[in-house]
Amino acid sequence: MNILLLGSGGREHALAWKINQSPLCNQLYIAPGNAGTPQEGINLNINANKFNEISQSIHDYNIKMLIVGAEQPLVEGIYDYLNERHSDLIIVGPSQQAAMLEGSKAFAKEFMKEMNIPTAAYQTFNLENIQDGFKFIENLNPPYVLKADGLAAGKGVLIIDNQEEAKESLKEMLEGKFGAASQNVVIEEFLSGIEFSVFVLTNGKEYQMLPIAKDYKRIGEGDTGLNTGGMGAISPLPFVDNTLKEKVISRIIEPTIQGIQNRGLSYNGFVFFGLIEVNGEPYVIEYNCRMGDPETEVVMPRLKSDLVAMFLAMHEHHLKDFKVEFDERTAVTVFLVSGGYPEAYEKGKTITGLNNIENSIVFHAGTKAEGGAVLSNGGRVLAVTSYGKDKEEALQHSYNNIKKIHFDKKYYRTDIGFDL
Ligand code: AMP
Ligand code: GLY
Repeated sequence: MNILLLGSGGREHALAWKINQSPLCNQLYIAPGNAGTPQEGINLNINANKFNEISQSIHDYNIKMLIVGAEQPLVEGIYDYLNERHSDLIIVGPSQQAAMLEGSKAFAKEFMKEMNIPTAAYQTFNLENIQDGFKFIENLNPPYVLKADGLAAGKGVLIIDNQEEAKESLKEMLEGKFGAASQNVVIEEFLSGIEFSVFVLTNGKEYQMLPIAKDYKRIGEGDTGLNTGGMGAISPLPFVDNTLKEKVISRIIEPTIQGIQNRGLSYNGFVFFGLIEVNGEPYVIEYNCRMGDPETEVVMPRLKSDLVAMFLAMHEHHLKDFKVEFDERTAVTVFLVSGGYPEAYEKGKTITGLNNIENSIVFHAGTKAEGGAVLSNGGRVLAVTSYGKDKEEALQHSYNNIKKIHFDKKYYRTDIGFDL
């Protein structure tokens, strides 16, 4: 069958790489893709946020399966739009209502409360009850966690030590710091522990877990400095033992699937649980309705099973019986980013050395092809993924290859996995 994948990041290149290995995939199309995705399929120059253009392409290219990479189109209702117009299309991605698990922090918190899923204590505020918000802050211990309710391109969470500053930030957010996304603000208790990412594929009734991973979000060594879209990732994680995994399944994954059913939500796709371990207990920091980036760049390499067959099992309601096999090796990915990122940086730098790679897979993110050259085209440029018998061996391969890849002002973290 012909398959269309929406997106242009490292996550999408890794998904494309995996989908293209499936004997069930006839022709893969990626819209819009990047300079790496033509290794796996055909790039279509259409915008993933323009539903009518996507609908036309589904018709023109005889697409039978659509995978939505990023959250924005899901939260804006791409599932509902296309499901109405293409009755035979298999869509991997939840309905607009179900995508609220990511699209609204207030919705997600209420959902967790209803299902008794462990998460930080919280309350939601708007301009009308801002005084209650101030009181709530006064009664919390610092640091204060303030979250814009809606999508804010990963920038909507503020963690503030000082009480007066927290109140000031609450006011700024409610007055439009993040536009409509911060008309409502969730304030929650700060949780201290180690974060990790759990992924399932579900049809709202059955589910299968994918490999567990951890990403490194900060720009600087030792997890310091500004938050980024992700500087690296590792899978599996030594600290996630069977006891912790069983708790994640029984207290978080299963009640989430049950909650999706209770609310009658239409959910076919990935659920990404952003978790934190506090004294041996897992808590949910956030839900996402898609795969993680850069986690996908290690999760897909560790998935041995046919991903397209898994999507079919999801659609045909025999996911429970699907045998999911993992590669036992460790996979790591290290991101090469543009100097200056996540603040101001330059694009359009010529990238060289991509043909000399050994023992790694290079997933493209912010790249574009121009006149036979590959140019940087974003803050996060390339993800260099490798396998090893342990994380040291895998990292060695990635760092060896990173030395061969050149572009002006390239930057990367040399300490991915330092805390494990
Ligand atoms: P989110 O967008 O909800 O994932 O939040 C972004 C980041 O803020 C998370 O990855 C955590 O590092 C941090 N964070 C969010 N909520 C909390 C919390 N309640 N306690 C501690 N850290 C948090
Ligand atoms: N790696 C975190 C995310 O994709 O949101």
